Amino acid sequence: MTTTTTSDLELFEQLEFRENPLYEKIISDILENQYSIVEDFFSLEEVAELRQSLLTKYEEDNFKKAAIGNRVNETIEKSVRGDFILWMNEANAELLEKHFFAKINSLVDYLNKTCFLGILQKEFHYALYPEGTFYKRHLDTFQNDDRRKLSMVCYLNDEDWKPENGGELVIYKDENGEEKETKIYPFPGRMVIFESQILEHEVKPVKTPRMSITGWLKTR
Ligand code: OGA
Ligand code: MN
Repeated sequence: MTTTTTSDLELFEQLEFRENPLYEKIISDILENQYSIVEDFFSLEEVAELRQSLLTKYEEDNFKKAAIGNRVNETIEKSVRGDFILWMNEANAELLEKHFFAKINSLVDYLNKTCFLGILQKEFHYALYPEGTFYKRHLDTFQNDDRRKLSMVCYLNDEDWKPENGGELVIYKDENGEEKETKIYPFPGRMVIFESQILEHEVKPVKTPRMSITGWLKTR
C-alpha cells in the first residue's frame, strides 16, 4: 500500500505549474491598463479580522502620522496626506498577518514565475484615514524609491461602507492624449494593484474613518 505524505504533495506542487485564472486576469489587466481591481481578494471574515487587528494597534497608539519623502528625509505634510500608518513586519508577524502575507506571497511567486518581474522585496503598512483626511494626487515613486514596481491596496472597511463615505481612490490615466479618471470605492475585500511608476492617483477626502493595508512589491 502506498500513502501520500504532505511532502509528496509539496513536491508535486513545486514540479507542476498550475495556471491560476485569477492571477492571470490580474496580469492581463495590468498589461492592458496598468491596474487591476480584484473583488473579494480577502473574504469578509479575513477583512473583519484584519480590521480588528488594525483597530487594536491603532487604539494602542502604535500608528504614526504618515510622512512624505524617504525614510531618512521624512516630512509630515498635512496638506499632502493625512493618514496614520503602521509598518508591518513579516518576520515577526502574528498568525493573522502570516496568513495575510501567505496570500500576498502566493501572488508574488506567480508574478515572478510568469512575468520575470523579479520582485525580491516588499513593504506593507496598515493605514487609517481619519475623518477629513485625504492623500493628494501623487506617484508612489515620490517616496524616493524607484524599486517600487507594483502598489497594492487592500481595503478593510466595514461591510456597510457606502460611496458617500468618500475616500475613493482616483487613478489618473492618459488615454490617447486625454486624461481619464477612474474612481475606485474602498469596499471591503477589494484589492487594487497598479504600476507604481506610471499611474498618478489620489485619495479623496474621507468622511468616515477609512482603513486599509497598503504595500509595494519591489525589485532589488
Ligand atoms: C498610498 C496610496 C491609496 C489608497 O498610500 O500611497 O496612494 O487607496 N493609497 O489608500
Ligand atoms: Mn500612493
